[in-house]
Amino acid sequence: MRRLLIAGNWKMNHGPSQSREFGRDLKAKGLQDFSPEILLCPPYVSIQALRESLEGTPVQIGGQNLHQEPKGAYTGEISGEMLKEAGCVYVLIGHSERRQYFHETDDLVHAKILRAHDAGLIPVVCIGETLEERENGITKDVITRQLKGALEGLSPEIMKTLVLAYEPVWAIGTGKTATAGQAQEVHAMIRKILKESFSTEISENTRILYGGSAKPNNAEELLSEADIDGLLIGGASLKTEDFYTIIGIAH
Ligand code: G3H
Repeated sequence: MRRLLIAGNWKMNHGPSQSREFGRDLKAKGLQDFSPEILLCPPYVSIQALRESLEGTPVQIGGQNLHQEPKGAYTGEISGEMLKEAGCVYVLIGHSERRQYFHETDDLVHAKILRAHDAGLIPVVCIGETLEERENGITKDVITRQLKGALEGLSPEIMKTLVLAYEPVWAIGTGKTATAGQAQEVHAMIRKILKESFSTEISENTRILYGGSAKPNNAEELLSEADIDGLLIGGASLKTEDFYTIIGIAH
């Protein structure tokens, strides 16, 4: 049985004071009785403020990225150990914005997964095709390449906790959500690849989130699909009300 995970990726939004306010508002709404796992990934400088403001709630905090080395002369970067020490449980890896703007490759994603695991963080590995790739009919090839590049050779121990997020690039921040059917089709394909590459157990137990313009008005339909195990929400996770509504829908 896969427990739903509702995750918010704040990207480069909400500094410490806004994050603290968000945390206070969310806490005031009461979160104790919700059944899905809840995760928020704020900018690094806001991790502490958000964590403190949500103290005593089940909300977990995650990083948006990490460096593939444990430490060293990498100006502007952050290590898995630092995220862990700051209170993070999860870390996003290979988000399409990292791949597009920071040239992250499948090999780098693989290295970051290993690093995250060594640092005691659970990786949330993002994959997804661009509009051009979808229109050219190569969605399956792209997803297969990204999955194999990221996951090949990982130990069952890492695969046991790792989370995947399918985020069609054409649906991110565009207001164009993949239909629940379109998302389900790719999620089922991902599960099949996991079965062939690893085992039935890993395929059945791995959580696959959907991301791309997920909102209060489409969350229910998306979450009703058999292979969608949660959401990775960008824009709609920035407002307490919208994020809270989606958690309620997932409950
Ligand atoms: O990580 C989140 C995704 O990029 C989705 O962002 O909900 O703003 O489309 P969005």
